[in-house]
Amino acid sequence: MKIVYASRTGNCESIINRLGIDNLMIQTGEETVKEDVILLTYTDGYGLVPTEVEEFVEKNKKYIKGVIGSGDTSFGEAYCGAAVTISEQLNIPLIMKIENTGTDEDIENLKKKLEEIK
Ligand SMILES: Cc1cc2nc3c(=O)[nH]c(=O)nc-3n(C[C@H](O)[C@H](O)[C@H](O)COP(=O)(O)O)c2cc1C
Repeated sequence: MKIVYASRTGNCESIINRLGIDNLMIQTGEETVKEDVILLTYTDGYGLVPTEVEEFVEKNKKYIKGVIGSGDTSFGEAYCGAAVTISEQLNIPLIMKIENTGTDEDIENLKKKLEEIK
């Protein structure tokens, strides 16, 4: 399944590049999809969904089948808060939380999880 992602400082983009998977980058939030996708998002503020991601989700929610979070554990309870919120809002699985760019092991685990939901 295609992964749609947003990346402000490059961590999510690094994850996508290492997954080597069909993808679409959310830049403005105006993007639309017409096929089922998985969403990868960073977290902003303290546990907030980035604005462009919020807009994308609003427009495309019926196609989003799972969400992956990239965050930083130093934010404590707000770790990957954006992905947690979207998972709850859309009632879709939170596939994985990844710290920043993730380790090589994280990427391998994520590849396996994505294979399972293909
Ligand atoms: C202003 C700011 C606020 C952030 N807030 C959170 C947060 O609440 N929770 C979290 O897990 N990560 C938070 N992060 C960390 C980013 O979500 C994390 O580094 C992510 O990997 C960034 O992805 P990107 O490089 O693709 O933009 C924050 C980062 C910045 C710069």
